[in-house]
Amino acid sequence: MEKKDSIIKYYQKQSRFYDITRPIFLFGRSEIVRWISESNVKGELLEIGCGTGHILKSLSRNTDCEMTGIDLSPDMLEIAKRKLPPEINLHQTDLADFNSKEKYDAVLLSYVFTLDFLQIEAHIKKVKQLLKPNGKIYVLDFHRYGSDLYKRYMNWHGIEMGEELLSSLESEFKTEQLSIKKAYFGVWEYFIYQGTNVRD
Ligand SMILES: C[S@@+](CC[C@H](N)C(=O)[O-])C[C@H]1O[C@@H](n2cnc3c(N)ncnc32)[C@H](O)[C@@H]1O
Repeated sequence: MEKKDSIIKYYQKQSRFYDITRPIFLFGRSEIVRWISESNVKGELLEIGCGTGHILKSLSRNTDCEMTGIDLSPDMLEIAKRKLPPEINLHQTDLADFNSKEKYDAVLLSYVFTLDFLQIEAHIKKVKQLLKPNGKIYVLDFHRYGSDLYKRYMNWHGIEMGEELLSSLESEFKTEQLSIKKAYFGVWEYFIYQGTNVRD
């Protein structure tokens, strides 16, 4: 099965429990909302892999941006649609196939890259095409396993993590803020990243 199809299938079931279960391990989501609000982003913001709309909902209370969310999973988007105000645009698409005439002032990816680790470089390239010059990128994701046991558990859920993600972001964008944190005293680490799309 293609990775894209396995993600859609995984969230067919997981979408039902997603909002109840994720607060105990998808750490950093309120912090990234705070970073975005504090950097006073104006204009158009795109969340790639917006899932059930958890972050877009918080952002709608904290920023004045026009917001768009895209996601592969129709089941996750169905929940987002019920939760979010109608002025937030939602589209079901793979990032790779998202053809937008719009260029965005800010792009956000929260726990998306590590679901398809082999596509990191392709996804970053696509994000650069979607961002305006000097547009902001915000990424929240898993960074490092604390043990082999935890690695096996995460791989079983289709998640792969590694320091290459942060290195690739830092080489493609100008880093403005970075925070690396331990979850549960080091069972894993996650990071929050803010960068700018400077011209080459
Ligand atoms: C772990 S969830 C995170 C959802 C949300 N960003 C949050 O923080 O709660 C990852 C989401 O990314 C979506 N996704 C994964 N790969 C994608 C891709 N290539 N294009 C669009 N969405 C993708 C999945 O369908 C899923 O809804």
